[in-house]
Amino acid sequence: MEPHKAESMDLLRIEKLKKYFPVRRGFFQRTVGWVRAVEDVSLYLARGKTLGLVGESGCGKTTVARMILNLLPADGGRILYKGNDICGLSDKDMKPFRKEIQIVFQDPYGSLNPRMTVGQTLSEGLRITGIRGRTDRREPIERLLGLVGMAPTAIDRYPHEFSGGQRQRIGIARALSVEPALVVCDEPVSALDVSIQAQIINLLKDLQDRLGLSYVFISHDLNVVGYLCHQVAVMYRGQIMEYAPAEKVFENPLHPYTRVLLAALPDLESGKAPPATGLESERPEFALTPPEGCRFRMRCPEKHDRCRLLNPELTPVDDDHWVRCWQAPPHSTRI
Ligand SMILES: Nc1ncnc2c1ncn2[C@@H]1O[C@H](COP(=O)(O)OP(=O)(O)OP(=O)(O)O)[C@@H](O)[C@H]1O
Ligand SMILES: [Mg+2]
Repeated sequence: MEPHKAESMDLLRIEKLKKYFPVRRGFFQRTVGWVRAVEDVSLYLARGKTLGLVGESGCGKTTVARMILNLLPADGGRILYKGNDICGLSDKDMKPFRKEIQIVFQDPYGSLNPRMTVGQTLSEGLRITGIRGRTDRREPIERLLGLVGMAPTAIDRYPHEFSGGQRQRIGIARALSVEPALVVCDEPVSALDVSIQAQIINLLKDLQDRLGLSYVFISHDLNVVGYLCHQVAVMYRGQIMEYAPAEKVFENPLHPYTRVLLAALPDLESGKAPPATGLESERPEFALTPPEGCRFRMRCPEKHDRCRLLNPELTPVDDDHWVRCWQAPPHSTRI
């Protein structure tokens, strides 16, 4: 069973997605193991909504993002965009979807061409949407800049002339230039100062309301995710541990890992860091070959004998609340 609901409303549906990376060693670069970066990931995203993907560094968030954009082939599973399986499509067959699914990166400086003016960068997208002449593009470029809160004078300037927050606005404008339906935001505010983070988050929220965009929003910060996302998926070592509407994840977290992440959030009013959670750090040898049983059990404050033997499935405890934990309460309708 997989977490999906209201099928006709789904813009994106991910089913049992899998990606293993080979680990090669020695002169002949023999494969000596596999990094199980993504395993059995199933998610859905309704039109006009935001799905938050949260988890610590290395848990597989960017790998999922790259597969959604078809920049990386999946080793298993399906990605349905508007009902079409886009996994493994050739460049030609992917073309109609390329424009509809865009990405905003963490580091806008690294993803913007330093030798192109803002106008030239945005012009590329407009050309793809069919606006041909240079002069014809000036007005839509100014409109795009206005949409992301930038002055029209930015058009003739280069990326290095802007601050980090402004560059991220340009990165968002570039994504919007092809009129996408879905924008994957991979840690778009992680590199920014806290005050600027709030501005960019508000901008994304505002753009969603105005343009009806859907977002997959990737972050390691649950605070940011809670503010922006309708659905939240908590990921650990390549697997979804908990998946529910945001308010349920925050008010009734059922996976011990989610509870640990929430307990580690700083107090928003005082700004003080919370006391240490007591979460054991991961043993390095498990990074490559996960232990038998639950992947989180080595660090779990609530582990049990059964957790050592078998990896639990992602299971519904409620109509829209899914948890991968032996200790989670059973779904009331299943008793
Ligand atoms: N091309 C690759 N070859 C080999 N291993 C890879 C490759 N890309 C990612 N990995 C591994 O896959 C795992 C997941 O990586 P990924 O970048 O998706 O994590 P992430 O959740 O985005 O982390 P971060 O928060 O640091 O961005 C990591 O162990 C990483 O080392
Ligand atoms: Mg990443």
